[in-house]
Amino acid sequence: MMLWAAPLMLFALNKAPNFLTGKIANDERVVFFPTAATQINETHWNIPIHGWIFEPEIDSVKRKALIKALGKMFQLKDTETKSILRQRLMPFAVDNQSLQYVRITIVKSGQQLIHRLPRSAKDGHFFGNLTMPIEVEDLQDGKLHYKAIDSERYFPGRVHIIPPTGVSIISDIDDTVKITNYLNKKEFYKNTFIRDFKAVPGMKDVFLKCRSQYDNCAFHFVSASPYQLFEELSSFFEAEGFPLATYHLKRIRVKDKTLLQLFADPFEYKIGQIERILHKYPQRKFILIGDSGEKDPEVYVELCKRYPEQIEKIWIRNVNDADASRMDGVDEAKWRYFSTGSDLMKEIKR
Ligand SMILES: *[C@@H]1O[C@H](CO)[C@@H](O)[C@H](O)[C@H]1NC(C)=O
Ligand SMILES: *[C@@H]1O[C@H](CO)[C@@H](O)[C@H](O)[C@H]1NC(C)=O
Ligand SMILES: *[C@@H]1O[C@H](CO)[C@@H](O)[C@H](O)[C@H]1NC(C)=O
Repeated sequence: MMLWAAPLMLFALNKAPNFLTGKIANDERVVFFPTAATQINETHWNIPIHGWIFEPEIDSVKRKALIKALGKMFQLKDTETKSILRQRLMPFAVDNQSLQYVRITIVKSGQQLIHRLPRSAKDGHFFGNLTMPIEVEDLQDGKLHYKAIDSERYFPGRVHIIPPTGVSIISDIDDTVKITNYLNKKEFYKNTFIRDFKAVPGMKDVFLKCRSQYDNCAFHFVSASPYQLFEELSSFFEAEGFPLATYHLKRIRVKDKTLLQLFADPFEYKIGQIERILHKYPQRKFILIGDSGEKDPEVYVELCKRYPEQIEKIWIRNVNDADASRMDGVDEAKWRYFSTGSDLMKEIKR
């Protein structure tokens, strides 16, 4: 190699240090989404890992354009709402982070295990699949914790270790546990991008009561909300006191769709997301919680037909005066409409 080329190469490596070393660059971040592990035999578990590596583009043209458009739409003047908007939109305008990889450490029985995860896809998402023995001492409140290897910053992740039997709650997010008002476009944008998130009254108590009444209760959020909102959503639910859940959101790239379309919840898509969970835990019983604003009733009715043994209850938050016909085909004892969490409290018993 000619001498003059060396600084150039160093420069290139510095720009893309991850490709060769797995190092997370200073301007990049990693977010791990909570996943659900399944037991394979007496000792071993399948541990799925799902992460996202991205470079928030603080001053990108894309991002500025998004903020400007939404800011104009709401005629935002005060700096506080503008700063919420900026924070919520940050993950929607990120660099292309394909072909990167991340290494994680898991502390297990006092030992540090290191795993190199597969390279990321075009949208920066990456998936790993570990098989390992799990002992009770490795867990905190039923979760296995890990973190990305990085010398300075802390990028934590967790896997829910869910036993083969018990009760699982699968819940939608928007208009089911969080007030979004998807059916009103303007309210939807405000509730999603500029207002503080608000919980549906009483839903936290429903979740907590489920956890105390049902054996090995596990929680999964399955929603058409994009993964870009995961951090905001999960810190909101934690601050509100909801039990921890796994997240199954939508992978989207902001390109040619409006943000409203991105949140759409197509029938087949949601069925597929939930079926994957039902297949992973064939011996578990499920309670499905959703709302009548979009297709939850139809999706849950269809799932109940396909998996009558597994699905015990369907609770639908009625946000648009839906009538009972939307639940046709499901045994009357299995479903009910509700408007706030307190309507459900007496349904929850062993
Ligand atoms: C459980 O599965 C793991 C991974 O497939 C295997 O290495 C282990 O020997 C199995 N243990 C038993 C008791 O079958
Ligand atoms: C992202 O980067 C990869 C690898 O550098 C490239 O193949 C791909 O075309 C890029 N995609 C976009 C949308 O820029
Ligand atoms: C992980 O392993 C499970 C079971 O072995 C398999 O069904 C699943 O498709 C794998 N997932 C990935 C992302 O490789």
